Amino acid sequence: MRHVIEQLQESKIREVANAGLGRSDVLAFWFGEGDEVTPGFIRQAAIESLQRGETFYAHNLGLLELREAISTYMSARHGPVGVDRLAVTAGGVNALMLAVQMLVDAGDEVVAVTPVWPNLTAQPVILGARLTCVPLAPVNGAWTLDMETLLAAITPATRLLILNAPNNPTGWTLSREEQQRILAHCRTTGTWILADEVYERLYFGDIEAENDPAPGRPKPGAPLGGEGRSPSGGDLCAPSFLDVAAPDDRLMVVHSFSKSFLMTGWRLGWLVMPASMTPHMGKLIEFNTSCCPVFTQRAAVLALQRTDEVTPQLVAHLKACRDTLVPLLQALPGVELSPARGGMYAFFRLQGFDDSLVTAKRLVTEAGLGLAPGEAFAPQARGWLRWCFASQDPQRLVLGVERLKNWLDAQRALRQA
Ligand SMILES: Cc1ncc(COP(=O)(O)O)c(C=O)c1O
Repeated sequence: MRHVIEQLQESKIREVANAGLGRSDVLAFWFGEGDEVTPGFIRQAAIESLQRGETFYAHNLGLLELREAISTYMSARHGPVGVDRLAVTAGGVNALMLAVQMLVDAGDEVVAVTPVWPNLTAQPVILGARLTCVPLAPVNGAWTLDMETLLAAITPATRLLILNAPNNPTGWTLSREEQQRILAHCRTTGTWILADEVYERLYFGDIEAENDPAPGRPKPGAPLGGEGRSPSGGDLCAPSFLDVAAPDDRLMVVHSFSKSFLMTGWRLGWLVMPASMTPHMGKLIEFNTSCCPVFTQRAAVLALQRTDEVTPQLVAHLKACRDTLVPLLQALPGVELSPARGGMYAFFRLQGFDDSLVTAKRLVTEAGLGLAPGEAFAPQARGWLRWCFASQDPQRLVLGVERLKNWLDAQRALRQA
């Protein structure tokens, strides 16, 4: 076995969840998915496809019908994105891996902004890359990127920069100006940008970070998109690298059906890339998954075409969940928390509890509360915990905070005794 595989760390989120296996009394908020089933009309499209007997291999890059639907959907938000720049993938995670396989050789230098969902940093390591992490920091109540530190880390030796915004777990979002600066710098160093934008629609756009000089201002001449309103409905969209880049820039953007369409178990996503790369991506997909199932792709076409029936309602609900959870957590003594601008997570620090893996395991066994430990996302997030607030019933969140409060009170009483 390769040494890097032997050395791969098991998911720390799983490690905590395993501590609660078989316990029905645990309120679980550890995984990055809601508890709502995929809308009926999307499931129905898959059923009808199966009933038509669509059980065969499909095109490596995805059904043309689906790529056309993705092109329409993306173009409405970010200006023209042609079918020739698209590949359908087996989820966002597969899109990320394909992009890294396409770009990174063993020994290459890769820079990633952290904390981040651990798969993004594990994948280049699996391929033998050398990884440098540039940490975000909470400044004046908002997660902030120190641009000078990031740009200094990206040199002509840097093959790939990996960013995820809106960010899992912090909810940090890049401003358009920051995207422009990063892109301009990467053009000079010849560095590829891999932008994970799977949460672009799960964007609330209502909290303005102090380092964001122009929140809400659309790019001159751009279609409605970015931090503007989508033309198809009343929904928002986070700033995207696609809004500032040229079609042939060294940029790959990752998307997923999981989050905005409640389709985590379907394993579908897509990649946007320069058109010259797409035929090569088809070859790479052949040797990874060959293709995605036809029946899931048929359902995905409907999801995109009828997004207005799903995503705006989902985002409104997530915002209500965030606004239920965050003030309750902030009211607890010793909690440090910056509300998320996007995504579906509250990321917070508990003063006096510096090892979040230990804390998360204790919360499971002693309080019946399931959270993800911060160190799953970056070593520097060791004192932090992630709470996924995508809950159909916001009362579950209230109940969860009560459990946390009671546990904290008990710890304090023990210390004073
Ligand atoms: C930042 C980020 N990117 C990508 C994904 C992958 O999503 P999927 O593989 O379900 O499409 C996730 C899932 O949690 C995520 O948080």
